[in-house]
Amino acid sequence: MAPPITAADLLAEITGLLGAGAVLTEAADLAGYCQDARHKFRAPALCVARPRDTAQVAALVGLLHRHGWPMLPQGGNTSLCGGATPDDRRPVIVSTQRLNRIRDIDPFGLSIAADAGCTIAALQEAAAGEGMLYPVSLGSEGSCQLGGTIATNAGGTAVLRYGTTRANVLGLEVVLPDGRILNTMRALHKDTAGYDLKQLFIGAEGTLGIVTGAVMRLYPAAPASAMCWLRIDAPARALDLLRLFRAHAGRLLTAFELMNAQQLANVLDHGTHPAPVESREGWHLMVELTDTRAQGLDDLLMAALEEAFDQGLILEGTVAQSLAQAEAMWALRHSVTESNMRVGVSITSDTAVPVGQVPAFIARAEAAVAAIHPEILVTVVGHVGDGNIHFIALFPTAAWQALPDPAATEARVREAVNDIAIELGGTFSAEHGVGQSMVAMMRRYKSGPELDVMRALRACLDPSGLMNRGRVTG
Ligand code: FAD
Ligand code: LAC
Ligand code: ZN
Repeated sequence: MAPPITAADLLAEITGLLGAGAVLTEAADLAGYCQDARHKFRAPALCVARPRDTAQVAALVGLLHRHGWPMLPQGGNTSLCGGATPDDRRPVIVSTQRLNRIRDIDPFGLSIAADAGCTIAALQEAAAGEGMLYPVSLGSEGSCQLGGTIATNAGGTAVLRYGTTRANVLGLEVVLPDGRILNTMRALHKDTAGYDLKQLFIGAEGTLGIVTGAVMRLYPAAPASAMCWLRIDAPARALDLLRLFRAHAGRLLTAFELMNAQQLANVLDHGTHPAPVESREGWHLMVELTDTRAQGLDDLLMAALEEAFDQGLILEGTVAQSLAQAEAMWALRHSVTESNMRVGVSITSDTAVPVGQVPAFIARAEAAVAAIHPEILVTVVGHVGDGNIHFIALFPTAAWQALPDPAATEARVREAVNDIAIELGGTFSAEHGVGQSMVAMMRRYKSGPELDVMRALRACLDPSGLMNRGRVTG
C-alpha cells in the first residue's frame, strides 16, 4: 500500500480522475448526502464523488483502495436504517446518481439492462414504454435507485406476486473493493455454470462491492387493477382474507397491505388525504388485484368481497371506482413514513415472521412496548401478505425530548420487538437492511458460524475493510 495520503492530495487525485464538476466538497453541497431521509443520521464525508460510468467507478475505487481510504456507496439515500449516510471516518461517498442510462430492453427475454443509478420510477417508465412491467414498487421509488434496491434486496408492495428485488436480478456488474470489475451481465433465465456470484452482492449493502449495472426481469404489463380498502377488527382477519383472496384470485393478488388505526390517523391528521372508509377504528387492509387486461377483474374482486362480507370478515369497505381513487389509496399508503415524521420520532422495526404468526407477533409487541413507555403511539404498517410488518414505536416529539437516555430507550424497544419476532421464527431485517441502526441486532441474533462466514467473505473481498466499514457484520 502507498504511504498515507493527505485529504487535500486525495481530493486533488479524485478531481484529476473525474473532473472538478463531479466532485462535491462544499458543506452546502454535501448536506443532502451526509444526512438520511428521516434526519436520524448525519456525519461528514471527505467529498461526494460522482463518476459517470463503470470505468470511472472502477478507477475511483482502485484509487481509494491504493490509498486505503474508506468509501461509502450511495444511491438515492433513502435508507431507513442509516445505511447510506457516513460515519465519523470521513469516507468518500461514491454516488451513483450520474450512472443513469437504460442500456437495453429485451421484449423477448423480458429483461432490462440498466445502470445502477437509474431510479426505480425511471425503470418502471422505461418498461411501460415497451408494454412491460418493472415489478418492484415502493414508496421511495421516485428517488431510490436500482443499485440501492439491489444492495438492500428491497421488497415493497408487490412482493406477494413478483418477489423481492433478489428474485428479479438476472445479471450484475460490480466494481470490487480493489477496483476490478466483475461482470455477470447476462440476460439469461438459466445459468448454472459455477457459483451464482451475483447473489453475494444482493443484500450486501455495499460491503462487498459497488453495483454499477444490472439485468433485471420484466413482466408483461398489467395495467388493469381492481382495488379496495377494507376495515377489519383484528390482524387475524387479514389472514382469513388472505386465504380467501388467494382462493379467488390466485396469482392476480398483487398487494395485500395492513395498517392499524394509529397509522391511518397519523396520515389523515397530518396530510390532505381523503379518508378511505368512514371509521378509522380497528385495522385496515389494502388489497389490489392486477392483470394484463381488465375483463373479469372487477367481477373477481366483487365475488371475493361478497364471500368475505357473508363470512363476517369485513366491517366496512370501499372499492376504488376509478384510477384516480386507486391512486389516492396508494398515495395514502406511500405517505406513511413522511406522516410519521410529522408526529414525532419513530423507532421503526422491519420484522418478518411466518405469515401465520403475524397476529401473535403484533399482539405481543404491543404489550412489550406499552410496558417500556406509556406515551408510545403504537403504529403498525406492513406487507402482511409476506409477513413483513413495520412495528413502529412512535414517540411524540415532547415525550422523546423528555427521555433521560433516548439511545437506551431505543435499544430497549428494538430488543423487545425483535426478540419476539425471532422467537416466532422471524427476522429483524426483512427489506430495509442492517445499515447502522441494526448492527447490534446482527450480533444479538446471528449465530457464531453464520456471522463468521459473512465476515470471512468480507475479509476475502475487502481485506482492508474500506467499504462500509462497521456496517452490516460490524
Ligand atoms: P441508499 O439509501 O442510497 O443505500 C442503501 C444501502 O445500499 C447503503 O448501505 C448503501 O451503501 C448501499 N448502496 C447503495 N447503492 C449501492 C450500489 N450501487 N452498490 C452497492 N451498494 C449500494 N424499502 C423497502 O424495501 N420497501 C419499502 O416499501 C420501502 N418504502 C420506503 C418508503 C420511503 C418513504 C422511504 C424513505 C424508504 C423506503 N424504503 C423501503 C427504504 C429504501 O427506499 C430502500 O432500502 C431502497 O432500496 C434504498 O435504495 P437507495 O438507492 O436509496 O439506496
Ligand atoms: C413501507 C416502508 C416503511 O413499507 O418499508 O412503507
Ligand atoms: Zn415496507
